[in-house]
Amino acid sequence: MPDKSIIADDLPLSIEWKDGELYILDQTLLPHKTVMEHHTNAEQVWDTIKRLKVRGAPAIGVSAAYGLCVEMRHHVNLSSDEFIQKVKEQADYLDSSRPTAINLNWAMKRMVECLDQNISGSNDEMLNALIREAELIHEEDKAISYGLAKVAEPLIKDGMGIMTHCNAGSLATSILGTATAPMYLAHDKGKNFKVYANETRPLFQGARLTAWELDKAGIDVTLITDNMAAHMMATGQINMVIVGTDRVVANGDVANKIGTLGVAILAKHYGIPFYVACPSSTIDMHTATGADIPIEERDGAEVTTILGQDVAAIGTKTRSPAFDVTPNELVTGIFTEKGMITAPYKDALEQLMKGA
Ligand code: MRU
Repeated sequence: MPDKSIIADDLPLSIEWKDGELYILDQTLLPHKTVMEHHTNAEQVWDTIKRLKVRGAPAIGVSAAYGLCVEMRHHVNLSSDEFIQKVKEQADYLDSSRPTAINLNWAMKRMVECLDQNISGSNDEMLNALIREAELIHEEDKAISYGLAKVAEPLIKDGMGIMTHCNAGSLATSILGTATAPMYLAHDKGKNFKVYANETRPLFQGARLTAWELDKAGIDVTLITDNMAAHMMATGQINMVIVGTDRVVANGDVANKIGTLGVAILAKHYGIPFYVACPSSTIDMHTATGADIPIEERDGAEVTTILGQDVAAIGTKTRSPAFDVTPNELVTGIFTEKGMITAPYKDALEQLMKGA
């Protein structure tokens, strides 16, 4: 199990389930304010996911699983059939909050499967089974990050410069992160390395979250703007890239935060290994290629403003795809809690998902 001591003691967790109540960290206020918001219904959780108060593929799956539970507490007086119908409707509703990260859909499917297995119980029994399932998803996510850390930590060598993009950190998961998990473990083992965190426009997850959480843990982290990535690689300061992902599809194409594709192309050009870290719940074998991944398009106001301040003239046209797809040929390896895989990804992913 993950050891809280390898992240900073005072780093808040993204999600807390305390005495049967759901608290979610408002990450839009970080790093300057730490506010844990109490959530009591699905609409509130939907809005929190949509606004990126909680974000990162694993964290939104866990939040939605608990969101379904707190919502269903309001409906235990329905008839059994109505209760079952309501769970399914609310699971679909929570799933609609963001389209790209498959973990959200995976968690909602898992909750509905759990309901189906407990369908003969009373409403209270069904609700309790859902709560146990959400707690299990949460606990498993913690253990998975630790598994990832152990798989990928040997890649980190003394003296390395490692680039990461966005936040695939403790804040994006239940604890420890995906891309950051091996960094925390390597640091705990006394390895010396530098992390370069790309700021990640438009919403600055790299600047506000990754640089903050790694620095708190005492890891040597340097913040750079996204357009500095090429220079850092060209001048030999980067030996490896590790990023997280929102969805890996059957051919090994990988969706991640907008800007990741550019980093992967640069890494290929400069001969720098480009690794992707994820729990196996991020692997979507039902989608054939990256072209089929739905890419979230966000409000243009996130592009015309920086942290609420206008930077472009009023009325400027924008586009705001929140993710891009890195083709599998640019990916050196994908590591999950089950191990590391390399090309050819189609076969490797099939084997991995069979548990082989
Ligand atoms: O829009 P966000 O902040 O949810 O995007 C997050 C990312 O792109 C992460 O890299 C990804 O979800 C992996 S989190 C372990």
